[in-house]
Amino acid sequence: MKLRAAVLEEFGRPLAVQEVDLAEPRAGEVLVRLVACGVCHTDLYTASGADPSGYVPTVLGHEGAGVVERIGDAVTSVALGDHVVTLFSPQCRECIHCRSSRTNLCLAIREQQNNGYLPDGTTRLGRSGEPIRHFMGTSTFAEYTVMPEIALAKINRDAPLEHACLFACGLSTGLGAAINTAKVEAGSTCVVFGAGMVGLGAVAGCRLQDAERIFCVDLSEERLDLARGQGATGTLIGGPDVVQEILDLTDGFGADYTFEATGLVGVMRQAVESARIGWGLCTIAGVAGKGETLDIVPRYLITGRRVAGSSFGGVKGRDQVPELVERALRGDIDVEPFISHRLSLDEVNRGFELMEAQDGIRSVIAFA
Ligand SMILES: NC(=O)c1ccc[n+]([C@@H]2O[C@H](COP(=O)([O-])OP(=O)(O)OC[C@H]3O[C@@H](n4cnc5c(N)ncnc54)[C@H](O)[C@@H]3O)[C@@H](O)[C@H]2O)c1
Ligand SMILES: [Zn+2]
Ligand SMILES: [Zn+2]
Repeated sequence: MKLRAAVLEEFGRPLAVQEVDLAEPRAGEVLVRLVACGVCHTDLYTASGADPSGYVPTVLGHEGAGVVERIGDAVTSVALGDHVVTLFSPQCRECIHCRSSRTNLCLAIREQQNNGYLPDGTTRLGRSGEPIRHFMGTSTFAEYTVMPEIALAKINRDAPLEHACLFACGLSTGLGAAINTAKVEAGSTCVVFGAGMVGLGAVAGCRLQDAERIFCVDLSEERLDLARGQGATGTLIGGPDVVQEILDLTDGFGADYTFEATGLVGVMRQAVESARIGWGLCTIAGVAGKGETLDIVPRYLITGRRVAGSSFGGVKGRDQVPELVERALRGDIDVEPFISHRLSLDEVNRGFELMEAQDGIRSVIAFA
C-alpha cells in the first residue's frame, strides 16, 4: 500500500513528508493505522545525527497509538479494530528477561530492531524498490506501520488515542520509574529533578504511590506549575544550591526517593547527593550524552544510598501500558495538560522546533 510518512533522508536535515510503500504484515506482524503520535527527544536526537547508532533513510516516530487494520499469520493477541499503543520496548513473554519480574528489557528482537529491521531481518517500508528502515521498531510518523505483535499493547477503546500515545514513551517512563523501579512507599518524601514529560510522569507516579511530600526541581516556573498540577507538594528552582535546599527541607537527611529526568550528568549527581543517608534510592531515567559519565563520591553509597537506572520505567509494555491507560481513564492520571500542541503529519518539523525551544511538554501529531 501507499501512505504518507516523515522520512529522515539525511542527518541534520528536516524530515521529508512523502509517499512511501508499505508491504503486507507477515507472520506475527500487524498493520496499524496511526491515529496519534507524540514527538519525542529521541526522534530529534536521531534526526540531528547525534546518535551514533542512527541510520538513513528511515521513518522516525515511536510514541504512536492507533487501530489494528490487518493481521499476519499466527497473530493471536490482537484483532481487527483493536486499539493499540506502540512499544519500542517489546514484551515477548518468553525470553529469560520477560519471565523475570526484575526487568522489562525483552531480548527477543533487540538486534534486528536496533538495526532498523523487523524480526525476520527485512523491512516492510520502501520506496520504488529501495528499502527504508524502521526506527525503534515502530516508525510511527506515518499513516500506517507494520509492527510485531509483541510490540503492541492492546488498550481500552474508550481511551482517547491522543492521550494513549503518550504512554508509548515519556509518560510511562516517568510513572514506571516511581511505581516499578523505585517502588515508592506510602508516606515517603520524593524529589524529582526535571519537569518534562518524564519528570512530570514521575511526580504523578509518586502521587499514585501515596508519597507524602513530592518536591519537583526545574529551571522553568511554567513547568513547575504543571508539576504542582500533577501532585508536587513543593517546587524548587534548579542550580548549584539545590542539594543543600533539599537537605534543609529533610532535617539534613535527604529524600527517601530521588528521580533524575533531565539527561544532565551534573543533575544526576545532585539526585544522588540529595537521596537520604541510610536508605535513599536515586532512580536515573535521563539519557546522558554519548561518552558522558556520572561522578559519585563513593562515600554516598557506603552510607546507604543506592542508585538505579530505569528504561521505559521498568514497564512491561503489553501487561502494564493497558493498566496505566485504565488508571488515566479512571481519572488517576491527568493527561491533557501534557499535550501542548496538536500538529498534522506535514508539520512534524514544527514539532522538533517547538521541542528545541522548550515550548510545551509534548506536541502530538493527529492523523487525519
Ligand atoms: N529511560 C527511558 O526509557 C527514557 C525514555 C524517554 C526519555 N528519556 C530521557 O529522559 C530525559 C527527560 O526527558 P523529557 O522528555 O522529560 O525531557 P525535557 O527536556 O522535556 O525535560 C527536561 C527538563 O529538565 C529541566 N532541567 C534542565 N536543567 C535542569 C537543572 N539543572 N535542574 C533541574 N531541571 C533541569 C528542563 O528545564 C526540562 O524541563 C531525557 O534525557 C530523555 O532522553 C528516558
Ligand atoms: Zn520517546
Ligand atoms: Zn522477551
